[in-house]
Amino acid sequence: MNYDLSVPASRIAERMGLNFPEDRWPDLVRGLEGAAQSLGLESPHSLVARLLSDSFGRREVQALAAHLTVGETHFFRSPDTFAMLQSSLLPELIAARQHTTRRLRLWSAGCATGQEPYSLAILISRLISDRADWDVTILATDVNPEAVAAANKAEYTQWSFRGTPSWVINGYFTRTPEGRYLLDPAIRDMVTFRFLNLADNVYPSPGSDIHDFDLILCRNVLMYFSREMAAKVAERLHRSLREGGYLLVTPSEASREIQGGLTSSMSNGEIVYKKTPRFSGAVHDDLHVPLADRPAAAPPEAPRVERRSKNRPFSAHAERPAAETAKRPAKATTDPVEAAREARILADRGELNRALACCESSLECDKLNPSLYYLKASILQELDRPDEAEQALQSTLFLDGGFALARIMLGAIARSQSRSGEAAKHFREALVLLAQMPSSTVLPEADGLTAGEMAETVASLMGSECVS
Ligand SMILES: C[S@@+](CC[C@H](N)C(=O)[O-])C[C@H]1O[C@@H](n2cnc3c(N)ncnc32)[C@H](O)[C@@H]1O
Repeated sequence: MNYDLSVPASRIAERMGLNFPEDRWPDLVRGLEGAAQSLGLESPHSLVARLLSDSFGRREVQALAAHLTVGETHFFRSPDTFAMLQSSLLPELIAARQHTTRRLRLWSAGCATGQEPYSLAILISRLISDRADWDVTILATDVNPEAVAAANKAEYTQWSFRGTPSWVINGYFTRTPEGRYLLDPAIRDMVTFRFLNLADNVYPSPGSDIHDFDLILCRNVLMYFSREMAAKVAERLHRSLREGGYLLVTPSEASREIQGGLTSSMSNGEIVYKKTPRFSGAVHDDLHVPLADRPAAAPPEAPRVERRSKNRPFSAHAERPAAETAKRPAKATTDPVEAAREARILADRGELNRALACCESSLECDKLNPSLYYLKASILQELDRPDEAEQALQSTLFLDGGFALARIMLGAIARSQSRSGEAAKHFREALVLLAQMPSSTVLPEADGLTAGEMAETVASLMGSECVS
C-alpha cells in the first residue's frame, strides 16, 4: 500500500483507540494486510474502504485487533505492583467489606491472554480463605478475540512466567504432556473473560455488569492509544469505579486525563489512582505525557532561559482545581533547597502556578542545577506550556548532557505534537544514556523507577513489541 494512511490511521484511533503515527505506518500496513486476509478480502484496500464506510463493524474490529495490538504480558508482571496489591491494596478492600457486603469487584481492562486477571485471582484465593461466603467478580476484557480465547484456555508456556515468583508455578499449575502449564481450574473459574473494545462508549453499564468496580487494572493499554481516546477511556474508567475504588496504570500511562478527579500516589513504581467523592466526571484535554516526564519530583531550567518574576501572574489555563489557583503567594524563601522542596510538594498537590513560582525562586539562587530546570519543565508541561517546557529541558541538557529524563520528556513533547522523527531521536538518545547505567540504578527525579524500567517505558513509547 503506497498511499497516505493518515485517514485510515485516524479512523483506527477513533474506532479502537490505537495510535499509528507516521513512523508506525509500516506496522499499520502489515496489520491491514493480515486483517484483510483473515476477513477473506481481496486486498487491504477493501478493508480500508470498509474502515471509511459504515460497513466497519465488530468483525472488522476483531480482525484488526488480532493484527494490530501488542499482547505482551506475563504472570505477576511488575512483581512490586503485585506485592503492593497483596500486602496493602487488596487487604484494605477486603477488610472494608469483611463485615458488610462481602462483595468485591475487580476488572482487568485490556487483559491480553489472561495472565494479569489470573494473577489477581491467585492473590484473591490466598487472601480470602472463606471465599464461598463472598461475592467476588473478576472481569477480564480485551478487544482481541484470539487473546480472549487463549485466556479462556488458561494454558501457557514458560515464557509467561519470566520474573514470576516460583510459588506461582509450583502452586497453581500442572505440566501437560506437551510441557505446557495448565492453570488450576479453581483459579481459572474465578475469572470471566469477555470481548470489549475500550474505545466503544458502552461502559460503565449496569446492564452488562461493567460498573461499580473496587479495582481496575488498565496497565500497558493506554500507552498505545491516541491522546484523545486515552482521555475518553480514562473518563469511562473513572465512572466505572465505585467511590473509593482504585485504578492502576503504569507510569508511562499516567496523565492529567486520568488525574482529573482522582487522587494519585506512586506505589512501588506503579501509579495508583483512587476515586474520591469530589470526582465530577470531567476530564482535561491536556497532553498525555508519561509520569516520569511530569512534575513529581525534582527538576529545573537554564542560565539562558528567560526568567519570570515570581510575582508575575500565571495563566490558570491548565491548573487543576480552581481553588488551588495562584491566589496565595508562593512561600517566600531564600533557601533554594527549601524552595525546590516546596515546589515539588505543590506540584504533587496540583498547585502548579505556586509550584512554578517556588521553582523559579529556587533557580534564582541555584542557576546551575539541572534538576531544577527539569522540575520547572515538568511543571510547565503540566501547565500545558510545552514550548517553555522544551526550553527548560534544553537548559537541563545544557548543564547535564546525561540527563536521560530530560531527553525522554523532549521526546514525549515532540511526539504529542506529531514531530515523530524528532521524538524518535530523543527517545533513541535516552535509551543510549540509560544503557550506560546498570539497569537497577534508581533514577533521580523518576519516583523510584530504575534505568531498566525506564528503558522499557521508552521502548514502549517507541512502539517496541517486546518490552518486558
Ligand atoms: C500489552 S497488553 C497488556 C496486558 C496486561 N494488561 C498487562 O499489563 O500485562 C495490551 C492489551 O490491550 C488490548 N487492547 C488494545 N486496544 C484495546 C481496546 N481498544 N479495547 C480493549 N483492549 C485493547 C490489546 O489487545 C492487548 O491485549
